[in-house]
Amino acid sequence: MSEIDLSVNLGGIHLVNPVVMASGAFGYGSDYADFVDMASVGAICVKGTTRRPRLGNPPPRIVETPCGMLNAIGLENPGIEAFLSEHLPRLRAGGATVIANIAGTSVEEFAEMAAMIDAADGVAGIELNISCPNVREGGMHFGSDPGLVHEVVMAVKGATSLPVMPKLSPNVGDIVAIARAAEAAGADALSMINTLVGMAVNIDARRPVLGNVFGGLSGPAIKPVALRMIYEVHREVRLPILGGGGIISSRDALEFLMVGASAVSIGTAAFVNPGCTAQVLSGIRGYMERHELTRLDRITGAALIR
Ligand SMILES: Cc1cc2nc3c(=O)[nH]c(=O)nc-3n(C[C@H](O)[C@H](O)[C@H](O)COP(=O)(O)O)c2cc1C
Repeated sequence: MSEIDLSVNLGGIHLVNPVVMASGAFGYGSDYADFVDMASVGAICVKGTTRRPRLGNPPPRIVETPCGMLNAIGLENPGIEAFLSEHLPRLRAGGATVIANIAGTSVEEFAEMAAMIDAADGVAGIELNISCPNVREGGMHFGSDPGLVHEVVMAVKGATSLPVMPKLSPNVGDIVAIARAAEAAGADALSMINTLVGMAVNIDARRPVLGNVFGGLSGPAIKPVALRMIYEVHREVRLPILGGGGIISSRDALEFLMVGASAVSIGTAAFVNPGCTAQVLSGIRGYMERHELTRLDRITGAALIR
């Protein structure tokens, strides 16, 4: 059998393999340096970054649920200047492929940050966080309206020559309409899905657990929703998809590839098992060996009923 090729072209972002660290679960990578070799994953999508530093939401900001977690971090981050000057060089020195994740409060701010990243050199692509459920300004609001999605993607495409990948929210009625708007505006790839809005209640205190009341649900609970949405979008839109939502094993990852994802992202599972990216990758490789597949594109979309 010839060599297995695990590389992926995600809309112009070259990944050495299809396993990507999802935004927010790995920060800017430093906390995971002892567990994950940054050069061994396809890419790291860094923590959602804003124009100015943000402290995030009041605590408690994370709560565990029976099959996932709710978070309402509220985009705590040091701001784009600190990302570019402090974190990006360290990540690059470690051999990471870096995908920036940006969250603007206006269309202009998204474009401004994209231009700053473009000028900085060293970022492989830009993920547009138009789907954060935990912030008052911007966030999910951008990703719920096809017109706004079109506007944001157009503005960012005009500000950078890097590949642009909007991250879609599952908190919408028609995910295909949103994906089509992104495609029409020139997006290079799609990232899906972000968290589902949920909440938890403390019955002793008789109040919501999270300081923000609502949070984003992630982990195994959301996998069926993510698979369904990627399946729907892959049928209608030609863009490559970075798929994720509840992946904890290579079996999960293979399901995502089979409904149309070209690469997969892993977030919440890393809180339980920091080494899971390597395990998922070796499981995908094992599957390819067993089935005598040498290229991932033989798996992408394989489960689509035509
Ligand atoms: C603690 C936490 C923080 C997150 N922060 C971000 C973020 O800053 N930007 C973003 O686009 N997604 C963020 N996400 C969403 C994840 O990137 C991912 O899309 C989602 O959690 C679903 O995947 P998972 O079930 O593998 O975690 C965050 C998720 C978690 C759990």
